[in-house]
Amino acid sequence: MIALFEAYPGLAGRLPYVGLGEFPTPVHSLERLGDAVGARKLFVKRDDVSALRYGGNKVRKLEFLLGRARQGGADHVLTLGAAGSNHALATAIYAGGLGLASTSVLYHQPNGRYVARNLLFAKRCGARLEVAASDRAAGRVRPHGSFNIPLGGSSILGTVGFVSAGLELAAQVLRGELPPPQRLYVALGTMGTAAGLALGLRAAGLETKIVAVRVVAERIANRARLARLYRNVNRLLSRLDPAFPPCPLAGIELRDEFYGEKYALFTPEGMRAVALAREHESLSLEGTYTGKAFAALLEDMKRPSLRDETILFWNTYNSRPFPHDLDEEDYRELPGELHRYFEEPVQPLDRVDAPFPAGP
Ligand SMILES: Cc1ncc(COP(=O)(O)O)c(C=O)c1O
Repeated sequence: MIALFEAYPGLAGRLPYVGLGEFPTPVHSLERLGDAVGARKLFVKRDDVSALRYGGNKVRKLEFLLGRARQGGADHVLTLGAAGSNHALATAIYAGGLGLASTSVLYHQPNGRYVARNLLFAKRCGARLEVAASDRAAGRVRPHGSFNIPLGGSSILGTVGFVSAGLELAAQVLRGELPPPQRLYVALGTMGTAAGLALGLRAAGLETKIVAVRVVAERIANRARLARLYRNVNRLLSRLDPAFPPCPLAGIELRDEFYGEKYALFTPEGMRAVALAREHESLSLEGTYTGKAFAALLEDMKRPSLRDETILFWNTYNSRPFPHDLDEEDYRELPGELHRYFEEPVQPLDRVDAPFPAGP
């Protein structure tokens, strides 16, 4: 049973839910990497293996979102994202697994090798892919009769999945799997991950500071929107189960300086962090989200006062292998606007001869 329902049995049965993941995800100590970055107690939360077919942070949200889609009798889910969106892919995979048709409305982003991979995997899952002129235009597509999942799955309900993640971590602390972390580093996109984690940790009485590293435009991720999402999720849970406490929002630090020029454009600091993680601990990060979050951790570790703190890196990126025969899919069967991700060069920092090559 997931940590939310264990801690608050009153919520079980009152929230739509379908089990997709393998929880709790493990916590590992990163000793070699810790030595390399100057952190004596460095840990990683392995949400990269949150499910067997495809891991990463989207699984926790989809357990509630697809639970709601099923409960409402939908036979079709619709979501949106950038062309290489991990969220759109995860939705295609898990909706398909539940027998639901899915459509992803995608908008353009800088090219990277993962974009083509994600598109082909979504195609393999039978998802229908459409292209919109921008994220705003994609948000306006609302076909009749489908269950709509917002950008990144960060609705109030989707975010509940990460409240459970915060409680899950607190239970791991209680079991002695790691000391109470003083700082937790996580990428900040549509904010459901960070907001839910913050609420789950506070509800469990942990004071861990959450360092949320913004990797999307400020109009999408900012303090006011984060506070609103956090409050709304807290209200929902306290209303459904009065045992769930009201928890003031505290201890989240938003970091802006690792974003770079735009969404999904890799940065030298981010790619250096990706390379260091792989070299010292075979930790598989990437340039759009987790590399930027890990770069913030590396930067902070230059402060001697943090060296003895317990630091947790929340790995939000899938590490399950993709089907090995995806290149048998013909990209020309995708909408023409997506062919550029197969025919044009990837961004310079994603090339195999880049100073810090991004890996396979
Ligand atoms: C790998 C990865 N990390 C982090 C995030 C950010 O999570 P959130 O959108 O909940 O802030 C996403 C998705 O947007 C993601 O795909």
